Amino acid sequence: MNKIFFHLVTIALFAMACNRFDKITTTDMRESYRPQVHFSPDSMWMNDPNGMVYYNGEYHLFYQYYPDSTIWGPMHWGHAISTDLVHWEPMPIALYPDSLGWIFSGSAVADVSNTSGLGTEEDPPLVAIFTYHNRPLEDAGCDTFQYQGLAYSIDKGRSWTKYDHNPVLPNPGIRDFRDPKVFWYSESNRWMMILAVQDHVSIYSSPNLIDWTFESNFGEGTGSQDGVWECPDLFPMQTGDTTKWIMMVSVGSGGPNGGSATQYFVGDFDGHTFSREGTKTKWVDYGKDNYAGVTWSNIPKEDGRRLFIGWMNNWQYANQIPTGKWRGATTIVRELEMVEVYNDYLLISKPVGELKTLRDKEEQLKPELISGEMEIKKTFEFPLEVSLHFNTKNSSAMNFAERFGIEFYNKKNEKLLIGYDNLNKLFFIDRTGAGWESPNKEFAGIHYAPYINSDPILDMHLIIDRSSVELYAKGGLVVMTEQFFSREPFTTISLFAERGEIELGEGKIWPLNSIWNKGK
Ligand code: FRU
Repeated sequence: MNKIFFHLVTIALFAMACNRFDKITTTDMRESYRPQVHFSPDSMWMNDPNGMVYYNGEYHLFYQYYPDSTIWGPMHWGHAISTDLVHWEPMPIALYPDSLGWIFSGSAVADVSNTSGLGTEEDPPLVAIFTYHNRPLEDAGCDTFQYQGLAYSIDKGRSWTKYDHNPVLPNPGIRDFRDPKVFWYSESNRWMMILAVQDHVSIYSSPNLIDWTFESNFGEGTGSQDGVWECPDLFPMQTGDTTKWIMMVSVGSGGPNGGSATQYFVGDFDGHTFSREGTKTKWVDYGKDNYAGVTWSNIPKEDGRRLFIGWMNNWQYANQIPTGKWRGATTIVRELEMVEVYNDYLLISKPVGELKTLRDKEEQLKPELISGEMEIKKTFEFPLEVSLHFNTKNSSAMNFAERFGIEFYNKKNEKLLIGYDNLNKLFFIDRTGAGWESPNKEFAGIHYAPYINSDPILDMHLIIDRSSVELYAKGGLVVMTEQFFSREPFTTISLFAERGEIELGEGKIWPLNSIWNKGK
């Protein structure tokens, strides 16, 4: 009898374990549109990256997740862990909705001095601060349906406990009151919280992550105001001896190529208020598919990088993209830097250095003059990394091409073009004929990023996955992230120069190994 009981218990435990494993990873992650060098959940819906924190050798990535559908719905926090910012280990869901609401976007910090008292100094807590979205209150027509909650983990992010006295920041009567980003401000020994509030950002401070005091507002009537403000971030950046503070804010519509996009402001922060310098609206990424991105907290001083990740999608068509059993992915992790250009301060983005570990054998392209279309590769498979340097001065080109760049195509005659329009001084990605067109017509199109090239070399660096391309041009000053869904994989690569010539100075191609297994 005891033996039978023991067997039944073993079978039940095994079934539970399988079921849990099932939820975490069930496919070989090889579907035709499945990103091979970007994070995506095994199945179902994801949007914003959340709670990115480094702790004890691990980079945590939480994300807006709905485990019951590939359409946005009651939000949870999905979870993945990486030790190299490239390979991701899927983890069980970290935060589930509860009686206070769905779990919207937010951030996580390592409370190393245990200011919250939720752990101990020997075992400090990881603390997540997120927005509760209370659907019944919203449906009842109340304005107070979003407020901030707290959860903590004392086992390195493996399990999470919601704080007993949530919410830690109640709603003051404002409909859009969400996406807290928290960081430690050592000058005043306080935690700071930046919160998106309709058309501006509110700043709060706290000694312990639990009791919050309002400090100031920033942004009313400033920057892009075409959509609601969401997912802010605030952090210092340095160039030479100069330190500036960057306020990043995602805006729901009105991006440079339409729909949702992320703008940033450069200025100063004194522990209470953020003051902006200049008036020009600046964009983190000009492509249509990088939204709600924020940066990691607690990156060790010895590392010192400001690491960013975004959601590779656009609310215009996010619920429709034809991916399959999952919907949504992140961008590549990016290193942000600040540079001074003509007395202005700008962000540059570069693919995280660790991505180089995925490179397979490098192929060098012959430097030569291109006119019309020149095939450079007949068979290949995404993901690929490509680096191109075009000589725009001192070259043998007699008649400088009006448009030039790189083109990927397949037997169905679908093509994806990435290049520079020299007449209008714009980088562009043309996905008009690259396959799937969104039913709402916002997807297909040629999308542009302004850049007047006055340097002798025009450089383009590409990370191209099975259904996305990231263009980092001019050393990362111009970034464009775009999805595409060709009906058949692209098989051929050409360089092109329209109405004139362009000299390719240097070209390199690396096949990239998939992050979902060890080598291809
Ligand atoms: C941004 C956003 C956030 C919100 C979350 C809900 O994409 O709208 O403002 O917290 O998504 O999933």
